[in-house]
Amino acid sequence: MFKTRITELLGIEYPILQGGMRWAARAELAAAIANAGGIGFMSAHTQATAADLDAEIAKARSLTSKPIGVNLTLLPANAGLDYDGYVSAIISNGVTAVETAGGNPSKYIERLKAAGVKVVHKCVTVRHALKAESLGVDAVSIDGFECAGHPGEDDVPGLVLIPIAASKLRIPVVACGGFADGRGLVAALALGAEGINMGTRFMLTRESPLHQTLKDRFVQATERDTVLIGRSYGDSSRVMRNAVSAEVLAREKQGGATHHDLLPLIGAKRWMEAMATGNVDGGAIPLGMSVGLANDLPSCSELISRMVGEARQIVQGRLASITAE
Ligand SMILES: Cc1cc2nc3c(=O)[nH]c(=O)nc-3n(C[C@H](O)[C@H](O)[C@H](O)COP(=O)(O)O)c2cc1C
Repeated sequence: MFKTRITELLGIEYPILQGGMRWAARAELAAAIANAGGIGFMSAHTQATAADLDAEIAKARSLTSKPIGVNLTLLPANAGLDYDGYVSAIISNGVTAVETAGGNPSKYIERLKAAGVKVVHKCVTVRHALKAESLGVDAVSIDGFECAGHPGEDDVPGLVLIPIAASKLRIPVVACGGFADGRGLVAALALGAEGINMGTRFMLTRESPLHQTLKDRFVQATERDTVLIGRSYGDSSRVMRNAVSAEVLAREKQGGATHHDLLPLIGAKRWMEAMATGNVDGGAIPLGMSVGLANDLPSCSELISRMVGEARQIVQGRLASITAE
């Protein structure tokens, strides 16, 4: 029942993906998700060098023989990093799939595909999804307004974005942003997606490296505990509601503050440190609205099997009885 073009493409049991998360998406998490039947994308740019990524992939390989992935976030801010070296590490270590995001992936598609690595491009608009399809990516994952991190500036939620993408694209579409349980999985499949991609929910698992203090805080959080910063300078980002994001919003409201001016508050170095130390007011920590759906800290295996069981029950129970003749 969960066989889709995405499970076929990636060689996985369930159409459940973990999107790249800077600092958080590392070998242990990717391996735990792989062993549970999904696929996790380790963030390349969490690793300072290609050699570090090489070692991280080797670590994941030592923990699982199932498919693993790597995320390449192609934001201008990461321009100084050795992306060619990252791609070499990906290819030489037999990584199954790459999630590209944050920019045009064309420079890397040919090399990756020639080596048999599948490319799933993550974007936030249908026009970018169509562009990625024309460039030859294997699948697209499309992030709605609900998502953690960068939802773009159009504010189109998944309920509208996903079915439009699914009807306009020929390649498989993965639904992303706001998914956290079996209900979301069924909804995504009903909307025409062939899988889901989750960030926040996988950050709230036992294998995630997030500090326990923040895990406990997020389990208590509701769907109202994220805010969108960066709107005034055209680089919106969904983050945790805390003292830092409140200060950023206040500065934006005053007017005139640029991305550069706010870097001391919003910079990744600061939020990565907060995630490592559990400092709840330490930085602008990326967080999705789906945090309101995550009320515990399961292992990845418990989470995935629970989601699949719940999805099966919804389809074979509630939906079957609603639609019975
Ligand atoms: C802490 C954190 C860091 C993230 N960093 C990245 C990143 O570096 N690159 C990227 O493509 N997506 C990043 N994301 C976004 C996720 O891959 C995914 O698109 C998003 O979390 C989906 O929304 P959800 O959180 O509602 O599941 C990050 C998400 C979180 C929670």
